Formats: sequence, C-alpha cells, structure tokens
Amino acid sequence: MAQQKIFTALDIGSSRIRVVVGIVEDKRPIVNVIGVGSAPSSGIRRGVISDMDEAVGCISAALEDAERMSGEAIHRVFVSFSGPSIETFDSRGVIAISGNSSEITEEDVDRVLDAARAVSLPANRVILRTIPRSFSVDAQHHVKYPVGMSGIRLEVEAHIIAGQKSAIRNLEKCLYQTGVSIEEIVPSHLAAAEAVLDRKQKELGVVVVEVGSGSTNMAVFEEGAVIYSCVLPIGGEHVTNDIAIGARAAIDTAEKLKIEYGSCQPNDIAEREEIDLTQISRTDAHIVSKKQMASIIEARYHEIFLMVRDELERIDRAGSLPAGVVLCGSTVKMPGTVELAREVLQLPVQIGFPRDIEGIVDRVDDPGFASAIGLIQFAQRYGAPRALLNFNIGRIGDSVLEFFKRLLP
Ligand SMILES: Nc1ncnc2c1ncn2[C@@H]1O[C@H](COP(=O)(O)OP(=O)(O)OP(=O)(O)O)[C@@H](O)[C@H]1O
Ligand SMILES: [Mg+2]
Repeated sequence: MAQQKIFTALDIGSSRIRVVVGIVEDKRPIVNVIGVGSAPSSGIRRGVISDMDEAVGCISAALEDAERMSGEAIHRVFVSFSGPSIETFDSRGVIAISGNSSEITEEDVDRVLDAARAVSLPANRVILRTIPRSFSVDAQHHVKYPVGMSGIRLEVEAHIIAGQKSAIRNLEKCLYQTGVSIEEIVPSHLAAAEAVLDRKQKELGVVVVEVGSGSTNMAVFEEGAVIYSCVLPIGGEHVTNDIAIGARAAIDTAEKLKIEYGSCQPNDIAEREEIDLTQISRTDAHIVSKKQMASIIEARYHEIFLMVRDELERIDRAGSLPAGVVLCGSTVKMPGTVELAREVLQLPVQIGFPRDIEGIVDRVDDPGFASAIGLIQFAQRYGAPRALLNFNIGRIGDSVLEFFKRLLP
C-alpha cells in the first residue's frame, strides 16, 4: 500500500494567515486537503513580527481552525511568507574532482553546492535554500545530474535564498508559543509556483507573479528551474490606501469599496455609476464615483505590472516567456487584472488556481491559497520532514542534495 504522509502548511501573510493540512501519497502528485484554517493577520507584516502577542494570537486561531476541521493535532509546519526579509541571488561554485576514476559522486555534488554557498553574507543573513540550476562537467554545460559522470572539474550555477536571521528567529519563537515548530521556510512565491505551474510551463519559460497585500513577488522559470526571483514592495494594501485617499474614506471602508465595487478597467464603467458609502460604512456617508475609483485602482495595478516588466527587462525576458505569466495572491482577483497585465507585459496571462487538489477543494480553490497549497506540494516533492531550525539556524538548507535529486525527471 502506498505510504501516506500528512503535512501542514502555514502561510503567514500580511493580511491573512492561512493553514492547510494535506495528505499526500508516494508517487501520486495530488494533495488531499483535510483541514483549512484562516484568520486575519495582525502583529506581523511582510514576514516581520511587530507584536509578538498579536502574532501568536492570530496564528493560533488559524492553526486551531485547521485542527478542528482535520481532527489532527498540528506539531510541525512548513512556513511561507514574503517580504524583504527574504532575498535571492545567484551564485556559482567550482571544485576539482579527485579520485582515480574521476567519477563524480554525491559527495562531490554536496561539495560544489557548499562552494556555491560560500558567499560572504551580511552578518544578519542566513542561507535558507540553495537551488541548483545546472552543472558543468569540464567543457560539458547544462548537465542536470552529474553523479556518475567523469571529469576533473565540476561547476554549479545555483539560485540562493537567504533570510534575515533575526526575523526568522522571532518567527520561530512566535511559532514556539503557538506550540508548533518549523520544518522549513519557503519564500511564498516559490511555494506558490509549485501549486500553480506545471512542469511544461517551467520548461518552456514562465513567470509566476504573486501579488499579496504588502508586496509582489515574482519568480521566473526556464528549463525546469528557477532562474530569477525578487520581491517588489507594492501590493494590495497600497491600492486600498490609494482609494482611502482618493475617496476620502476610512481604510476599512476603502477595503470594502475595493473588494465589492473595484475594477481596474475604468473604461468599462459609465460616468453615472456611483456608490453610496452609507451602504457599506457607519462612519462614511458620501457618494463615490465607481469610474474614478477604478481609475485609482488601475493606476496602482499598472504600476505593479510595470515594475514586473522592468524586472523581466533586467533579465532580458520582457515579452519573451513562451508560457507567459501566471498571477496569484488575492490581489489578482480584482476584475480586469488579467487584461491589464496582458496589455502591460505583452505576454499571455492567466490566473493561477492551485492545481492537483482533492478533498476540501472549495475552501482553497482560490489564487490566495496558492502558497499554502504549494507548500504541501513542496513538502511532498522536495522536503523530507525534519526539524530545520529549533533555535539552530545554521542547519537550514542541509538537504540540498535531496532537494536536487527530486527535481530530476
Ligand atoms: N476579491 C478581491 N479583489 C481584489 N483584491 C482583493 C480581493 N480579495 C482580497 N484582496 C486583496 O488582496 C490582498 C491580500 O492578498 P493576500 O491574501 O494574497 O496577501 P497576504 O498573503 O496576506 O500578504 P503578503 O503575502 O503580501 O504578506 C489585500 O490587499 C486584499 O485587499
Ligand atoms: Mg501572501
């Protein structure tokens, strides 16, 4: 009988905490969702804790929610979040192959990845994961798995994810108070990519753009591997703030206005369409033009997609990713987002709903759940469950070889 494992994902967003408990089976790429929890986020923003008690409170609420639904006690979680406390960069490692046969072993691969990790990081940074992109053995480039090949020089190109030690430590302490420990931390957009992209898209060339509350995160894949990722400091909360200023309304009212009446296609809205704020607010009582609000929203979404385009230009991929753009994060649920993104980015664009799920599907069939579902898929594909932190940050990223091996077809 196929072995089953239960994994728990905890996506710590700036506006919502999301928990998913999923059962996975060996060699079956489907997540059976048995528990879902969600709570408004407070005391934590862009992955950085500002109020420990509040953060513990909202994370506990989401975990309890998921425990109740699944009937499972949660002890260990795969965690994702986004924000500037996580950064990514490329690195290269080179080693000489010793031994009589000059045959490359798993230990050599470990050594070359260690060499790639030997970069000087600022004191407060720690490497979370090293993702090998491709190897070279002597003059042979683009080697996917060098073990067993012969050569005298092994080189790797790797994508490195690093986090801010203090932010991670605080997160770990916070989770400790909720009674759970961290299995692994994965940047939310890399987790989301697992849920919304298929292998073919990753091979052809695709960018996943996760537009959250406090930030927009993107990751570009080519030939099956991530070639670039970054965090941009604008998200849905900036749209809400713009509406609050433009419509002279309280933040809560602006948020409701945005969700219930928002669009980023002002040209589709008639001048006379108006919203009476007394319908949605106790404090605001004036009339707002729907078209004007859509213009405000469009301007901010346009800016976000221009920033994405700038990043694609920086790596020479603007308008040239065959599998196009996959959008996720709750902010992309705004009507007209796909059309606007297509226009700015000049690429095919689609909304990324989590794929390969069964069980309580209706609760997670949402681009805002991409990271949480992706974390479970990430756990199944790459991560053997093990304690990563436990107040010992130095151990993060140990299982690189395991990770790499599972990337292979
Ligand atoms: N239906 C909707 N239409 C437009 N925007 C929406 C909708 N639902 C939620 N949002 C916006 O999405 C944002 C939250 O997105 P998401 O839940 O992906 O972020 P998060 O994970 O909490 O934050 P982050 O990942 O940035 O830390 C909020 O700004 C919210 O206003
Ligand atoms: Mg998020």
